[in-house]
Amino acid sequence: MHRPVIIDTDPGVDDFIALMLAKQSDRLEIRGVTTVAGNLPLEIVTQNALNIIDFLDLHVPVAKGASKPLKRQQESAEAFHGKGGLGGVVLPISQNRYVLQPAWDFIDEQARQAEGRLELIALGPLTNVATALLKYPDLKKRLKCITFMGGSTGGGNRTPYAEFNIWADPEAAQIVWESGIPLRMVGLDITLKGVLKAQDIQDVLRLEHPYTLVLRYLLEFLQQVNARVGQDFVPLHDALAVASVIDAQLLDYTLGCGIVETESEVYRGRTIVRKPLLENRQQPNVWVGLDVDREQFIHLLKGILQTGQTPNL
Ligand code: RIB
Ligand code: CA
Repeated sequence: MHRPVIIDTDPGVDDFIALMLAKQSDRLEIRGVTTVAGNLPLEIVTQNALNIIDFLDLHVPVAKGASKPLKRQQESAEAFHGKGGLGGVVLPISQNRYVLQPAWDFIDEQARQAEGRLELIALGPLTNVATALLKYPDLKKRLKCITFMGGSTGGGNRTPYAEFNIWADPEAAQIVWESGIPLRMVGLDITLKGVLKAQDIQDVLRLEHPYTLVLRYLLEFLQQVNARVGQDFVPLHDALAVASVIDAQLLDYTLGCGIVETESEVYRGRTIVRKPLLENRQQPNVWVGLDVDREQFIHLLKGILQTGQTPNL
């Protein structure tokens, strides 16, 4: 049974690879892609999403979302995604347009149609998701769960304390974390474990599939970006989040009481998750991915890219 999902994204190199994985998988039914300002401004990530959808031969609607965070200024991460946002890869310009509905209306409509089965996979700042929850208070009863790439129980990558997606719009993250919707957090704790090493990249690029050439450019770009900060490995943050939805056994999760820092400028976007203890009045609200079998992720990535099938492990 295909699982209906909407992918909210700010493509972005790792978002591109995540969409490739989602499209190739035989387990997901992508009902649509919504775009949010994050890695790059909204116009760029939206055109990138339209071009990627065409390139992947993925005929799904694209709905444009928020051009800036709920309260903060929009700050891009272009240095980590290259000119144009796709690692220098220039795709043919799509002749399609995004749908007229804004992302939040599209999400609510799809949730109504899916009758409680819809899952969100959020790969950028949570601005669209929060806006949808603010406009449609009952939406939280209609979403099955949200898997989001974001946060960290340790150090950050945008600041020493905060991961980029949460840092970009901490108020939106706080709204989502307080919604009561089942949440799965795929944060840096996980994405910096489930990395691709040089040999893995060579193995992945030896596979024959329609996207090998573009994947080579994307992975080699990421190798260069990570080498600049002394890392000889490549985290595929968003692709791991999608993989965790495809294979629910991929990650080990711990249920916790999570809060997002929104007051302090120094700790802006820091995510703190405490164990649910009796004296902890806060209700547990987030399943935090804390461990991943790296080999299993690589095996799954190769299996899906090559055959579309999720390998039995
Ligand atoms: O911190 C990693 C996240 O920020 C990923 O989603 C990447 O695409 C960027 O948006
Ligand atoms: Ca992203």
